[in-house]
Amino acid sequence: MKSLTISQPKMNIGILGTAQGSHVKMLADTLTGMGAEVTLINPKKLTSYLPQPTTCFPGQDGSPLTIENLDALVVRSLPGGSLEQVIYRVNVLHRLENLGLKIINNASLIEKTVDKFYTSALLSDAGLPVPKTIVTEHYDQAMKAVEQLGAVVVKPVFGSLGKGIVLVEDPDIAHRIFRALEMGRYIYYLQEFLPNGNEDYRLFVVGGQVIGAMRRRGETWKTNIACGSTAEHYIPEKEIADLAIETARILKADYVGVDILISNGNPYVIEANGIPGWSGLQSVMDSDISGILSEYILGEIKKDVNRNS
Ligand SMILES: Nc1ncnc2c1ncn2[C@@H]1O[C@H](COP(=O)(O)OP(=O)(O)O)[C@@H](O)[C@H]1O
Ligand SMILES: [Mg+2]
Repeated sequence: MKSLTISQPKMNIGILGTAQGSHVKMLADTLTGMGAEVTLINPKKLTSYLPQPTTCFPGQDGSPLTIENLDALVVRSLPGGSLEQVIYRVNVLHRLENLGLKIINNASLIEKTVDKFYTSALLSDAGLPVPKTIVTEHYDQAMKAVEQLGAVVVKPVFGSLGKGIVLVEDPDIAHRIFRALEMGRYIYYLQEFLPNGNEDYRLFVVGGQVIGAMRRRGETWKTNIACGSTAEHYIPEKEIADLAIETARILKADYVGVDILISNGNPYVIEANGIPGWSGLQSVMDSDISGILSEYILGEIKKDVNRNS
């Protein structure tokens, strides 16, 4: 008997990012290995055409790609830049989503998590524990915050990898730093310093489940792997896992990296990263994170296709 095979059309997935990004490459290889067609889209080359609603980005060979060419777009890079550049890139994502393209993580999640203030405010207002935080544009208010909070952690609102984060304990040093930030027209994002024993936890949540976690130990209080901390596998207690899952739920994240710090026995959500890397975590885990994430992405696209058909 002749066997009848029905070939499924390949899924076309765009990844916002460049081949230089190691996670972009990992994800592209894994998705391709699972049978998808993957196109990398450079986030700095997004080009929008109006009134054509569909043509939005140049493909690898420079020819325009339309959203009809894609089943989904996975955001793996949203580089920093001027206010105009960052807002434009986020608004392209909103537009594509409005036009019906599935975006993972969705445009709103990316917008919420590029801005540390917005993330912490959403989490705090939903009742999750975050460090006492004072955010202001005003030098006098910033100096007052130092009086109020004592030792403060000063963070760039748009930042990652621990870059540019400093601990300030002396009002004279605060004065020097705050005047310099004022010259650059920066926002003051100031947090109480929570003694953390030089360690914290990174939990990776995919589709509402913690799929992996690590404890990061540093030489200093700043525990980013990029700052030289070491990672070890960590199985979170229920309270900590629930906090990460709640974070993902409140932010409506497909997947998210959640930093949790324990100070004086109390857990705090320090950060939610909407474009989290996983190479540090992968180095201490057996399960294949890129594989889990890719399966999740393909599953979500299928659900979306079924919903729309
Ligand atoms: N309020 C705080 N008190 C003590 N340590 C902190 C505080 N905020 C951040 N840290 C430390 O600094 C690291 C980087 O902070 P985070 O807000 O996650 O910024 P980034 O986006 O650069 O990773 C955290 O992982 C933690 O080790
Ligand atoms: Mg962090």
